[in-house]
Amino acid sequence: VVSIGDFLTLDSLNSHISNESLLGKSKSPFWRDMESGKEAWGEFERGIGSHNAKRHITFGNHERRAWYHEDANPEVQNLLTGPLVCLFEDHGFTHSDYGEYWFLGGVGFIHAPLNKLAKTMGGETRNNILNRMVFDLVRGHDHNEYTQPLSKFGPIGHVTLVGLGCALPHGHIESYAQHALNGWSWGVKELIIQGGRITDAAWVSMLELERRYG
Ligand SMILES: [Fe+2]
Repeated sequence: VVSIGDFLTLDSLNSHISNESLLGKSKSPFWRDMESGKEAWGEFERGIGSHNAKRHITFGNHERRAWYHEDANPEVQNLLTGPLVCLFEDHGFTHSDYGEYWFLGGVGFIHAPLNKLAKTMGGETRNNILNRMVFDLVRGHDHNEYTQPLSKFGPIGHVTLVGLGCALPHGHIESYAQHALNGWSWGVKELIIQGGRITDAAWVSMLELERRYG
């Protein structure tokens, strides 16, 4: 089981909306974000039952907010990131840092690739990403679901880019993206990896998950 990050939104640490603004005053506190995370993992544990699966999360820009907040407020060093990392470790999840590629069976997993300036490649076209890829890659962040190969010279044949969509309730678009070009997809992907390549990527929508498992 791989979570591609932004598992927690951490609205409490949103630095785009200042605490003094009207919207900022309605931010939930950090502890409530953590309670929400615990509740979500409780549901995950209930669903996975006794299955013994390897678990990993590639941290997203939303988890990264905790590190940014500590950086700007050194007196709280480790007070946010400590419990945050523990929340995932308590449920058996290893993690990789934002921007770091994590490999499973030779396939890379990352929340969002970074460009030469270490900035998130968020608005790039899929072909721009594919042009740079030298191994199959699974990514999140753009909330879009797709499986797209691109042919490459030589025996490698092609590389495949998989977008995972997002695991929000069906139809839910976060307030910051409303009215924007989005095309969000809600669901999960079942991937089969063989010989260092993604051979199958089956999309299961949130609606289908609900139909199957309630
Ligand atoms: Fe993200």
